[in-house]
Amino acid sequence: MSLPIPQLKPLFPLFKKRPDLVYVDNAATTQKPESVIETITQFYQHENANIHRGLYELSSSATQRYEGIRKKVKDFIGAKSEKEIAFTKGTTESINIVANSLTDVISEGDNIVISEMEHHANLIPWQQACKRRKANLRVIPVNENGDLELDQLDALLDSRTKMLAVTHVSNTLGTINPIQEIVSIAHQHNIPVLIDAAQSVGHYPINVSSLDADFLVFSAHKMFGPMGTGVLYAKEKYHSMIQPLNFGGGAIREVSFGRTTFMDYPHNLEAGTPHVAGVIGLGAAIDFVNRLDLIETSGHTHWLASAFRSKLQSLDFVKLVGHPKNYGTIVSFVVEGIHAHDVAGFLAEHQIAVRAGHHCTQPLHARLGLQATVRVSFSIYNTMEDVDKIIDALHELKKFWS
Ligand code: ALA
Repeated sequence: MSLPIPQLKPLFPLFKKRPDLVYVDNAATTQKPESVIETITQFYQHENANIHRGLYELSSSATQRYEGIRKKVKDFIGAKSEKEIAFTKGTTESINIVANSLTDVISEGDNIVISEMEHHANLIPWQQACKRRKANLRVIPVNENGDLELDQLDALLDSRTKMLAVTHVSNTLGTINPIQEIVSIAHQHNIPVLIDAAQSVGHYPINVSSLDADFLVFSAHKMFGPMGTGVLYAKEKYHSMIQPLNFGGGAIREVSFGRTTFMDYPHNLEAGTPHVAGVIGLGAAIDFVNRLDLIETSGHTHWLASAFRSKLQSLDFVKLVGHPKNYGTIVSFVVEGIHAHDVAGFLAEHQIAVRAGHHCTQPLHARLGLQATVRVSFSIYNTMEDVDKIIDALHELKKFWS
């Protein structure tokens, strides 16, 4: 049986210590449930050993545990094999690995397609790959509402397009992109697709096989897991293309001073001591998410986001940023005449934690003619009371500032 919504917040120790906190910066990182914290603590207290190295029991059981989580991730995202799952430091590193690998196989005049709403993490690695190879970065435009102009996609793709990298959910506008449709358009041109699922895994069920995604990347810390751990899913046919960003111990078959032969993907990417406790914590986060009914929890967070949007719209001193056709749990806005940082500072004095700034989407902000916005992002433990507290605080801010 899945966990009922009212029982979720008590599972997060931070809220016991800080019952008045309205934490709505979930797109930056979610809070961690006791089960995840406890699993990591248990590992360090009772199970700590390095993996893939020791022949003693503690090391082999840590290895088994770590490798077992590859299978758990595989099941969680509907991959075909655990061999498709690499552990990384997070979404940013996962994208850098793919972009760096692509740099070796593209040439002058090729192109890579991204969208105008990408997080810098899904922009700069491709931009730099293009720069190194004199390739072109092409951009799917975003319209005033914050939706991708997908009718332009076909014209951006051609025989020299080497990758289409796009976010599932915008970390700024909350837009939920029709990734199934995007993948299918790209595949008509035989172009691989990387999906940045940082803002969607843990919110919605994701199945890479039914999506037919070629690459999918996400971080543990945005889905109730620890920071410093993430996933790169890559379809088997691309494994030989993927090259490590880091070289070192543990990822090799044979080393001499003249040459090194490497293990196959995914182990070739995991040189050095990996974040074993982080991966084990990711496993606990997946167990936690598996105890949720994602239809119910996403219904709850969407209900909060849409109520918050309507309430913001009724404030004549606030401007909502973007009206996407299909939006999720993220809402950005600006307050007339008050800088986003001042708004966030005022809300912080009222125990309300939001993010303010460009949210690592400067080109998107430029497109919308803005420098900074205030962002509220909901998670499973937020309530309608939280929504009302933010709205009340905005009324006070208006009184205080005028
Ligand atoms: N990428 C995270 C955010 O959007 C940190 O806030």
